[in-house]
Amino acid sequence: MKAEACTYVIYGATGNLSRIKLIPALYHLDVENLLPEGTKIMALGRRPWDQQKWQSEVRDMLEQKARGGIDEAVFQRFCERMHYHQGDITQAESYSSLAKTLNNSQVFPQNQTFYLAISPTDFANTIKFLSLSGLLQEDAGWSRVIIEKPFGYDLQSAQSLQKNIAKYLREDQVYRIDHYLGKGTVQNLLVFRFANTMMEPLWNRHYIDHIQITHSEQMGIGTRAQYYDTSGAMRDMIQSHLLQLLTLVTMEPPASMEAESLRDEKVKVLKSIRPIPKEAVHACAFRAQYTSGNIDNEKVNSYLQEDNVPEDSVTETYAAIKLYIDNWRWKDVPIYLRTGKRMATAQSTISICFRQPPSQFFRDTQIKNTQPNWLLLGIQPEECFRIEMTVKEPGLEMKTRVTSLDASYRQEGEHHTDAYEDLLLDVIEGDNSLFLRSDEVELAWKIVDPIIQKWAQEREYIATYPAGTWGPEASRAIFDQESHHWRHNLTPESD
Ligand SMILES: NC(=O)c1ccc[n+]([C@@H]2O[C@H](COP(=O)([O-])OP(=O)(O)OC[C@H]3O[C@@H](n4cnc5c(N)ncnc54)[C@H](OP(=O)(O)O)[C@@H]3O)[C@@H](O)[C@H]2O)c1
Repeated sequence: MKAEACTYVIYGATGNLSRIKLIPALYHLDVENLLPEGTKIMALGRRPWDQQKWQSEVRDMLEQKARGGIDEAVFQRFCERMHYHQGDITQAESYSSLAKTLNNSQVFPQNQTFYLAISPTDFANTIKFLSLSGLLQEDAGWSRVIIEKPFGYDLQSAQSLQKNIAKYLREDQVYRIDHYLGKGTVQNLLVFRFANTMMEPLWNRHYIDHIQITHSEQMGIGTRAQYYDTSGAMRDMIQSHLLQLLTLVTMEPPASMEAESLRDEKVKVLKSIRPIPKEAVHACAFRAQYTSGNIDNEKVNSYLQEDNVPEDSVTETYAAIKLYIDNWRWKDVPIYLRTGKRMATAQSTISICFRQPPSQFFRDTQIKNTQPNWLLLGIQPEECFRIEMTVKEPGLEMKTRVTSLDASYRQEGEHHTDAYEDLLLDVIEGDNSLFLRSDEVELAWKIVDPIIQKWAQEREYIATYPAGTWGPEASRAIFDQESHHWRHNLTPESD
């Protein structure tokens, strides 16, 4: 796809997301000569900064984040692309003054992308103001808007947000980012599934016993109590990133890799997920909160001791859920999703457990039970793709061990790119295949909504786990079978 020059407008340019992700990603695209010639970056902020101050802030951001340090020649070119515009997003005049500046087509390409790196509560009004000031018109070039989760707080608020967005933007103008989908390993999952035939015959209920998708963090909530205490792990991770990963693992091959074909298949999966009625919540979902503990040999506070957390909070910092996809491929295969803060290690993984052989041939030897085959996909921090097989140990005795076939996609010396680089480029190229469509968002809320509602009613008790552990043992309650256990490692497990 050929990218055209555009003006990248960043609302909330002085904020954290812009500092740690957006500006470094745009800079790295410039390093790789992937920003089309003439591309401009317009930073919007409240602070009374001038061009010089903004450039020194950007240098500061890049000093922390530029791979291999700042390349001065590229930095010079990058600075020439950048402009700073002061304005308050709640004031109509800040949009009209921006429109006046951007209308100068001699300087600013008339293709425009608006990245709303601002509070989600400001999305609807900002889009309205952008429209009223004429900035979303597509007379002289295209206009696209990027927003990042949370897309609503529950099903109802997500529907209401969508209603407000749809008044001013066509669906194809809206780019809902889930930065997980920009990760190379996640995209490699699609390549693994659809560019190879070997696994396809096995990729179903006849061969797969169950699937686990885990996102664990060692970090606590830091200074984000105000957001986190009203959100919790189910909204923050499961409704969004983990359900997205689930769709990529389980969807049917799309008719093509075009955005709509891909998104149609993801939607079919979400529609096929067996609803969890409120009375089944305890059998299918588990929540917990961290107490004090040790992370890397340092004592850390409990959730309730974190700044600005109410003393009676029952917000979950750990959530696990069991889902079934009621279609021909996956009927009755349990899929476990779990996430937590202050856990033993930080990692995102997909672990697929295959069924045991129908009979244990080696029963009368030293081999008591063969291990099931696992397919392990590490998304972060370790990026890997492994298939575990049982092999015989060398020697006269009939003993086995587990070895893994490694199909990891990065080779030594190949550098790592950040997910935002991929996604920001996709927007310029008009490729929305890795962005969420409104129906995906709505269906994902429908899945978790009954659980969220039930938990909101049950305010007397929440299970706990010490910081630095893998969460409560009691979360096993959601397992379909006694033999299931949480898979924590990407290396072979001992018996
Ligand atoms: N940070 C992350 O890693 C991360 C990750 C995923 C998603 N997100 C999402 O990204 C968005 C931004 O998050 P953030 O962490 O960057 O937040 P943040 O650090 O609080 O930044 C918010 C930005 O909005 C600006 N802003 C607030 N009110 C404004 C107003 N009335 N007029 C003009 N500008 C205003 C702030 O400007 P001032 O500097 O003047 O206050 C600041 O630049 C949120 O939707 C968040 O959910 C963030």
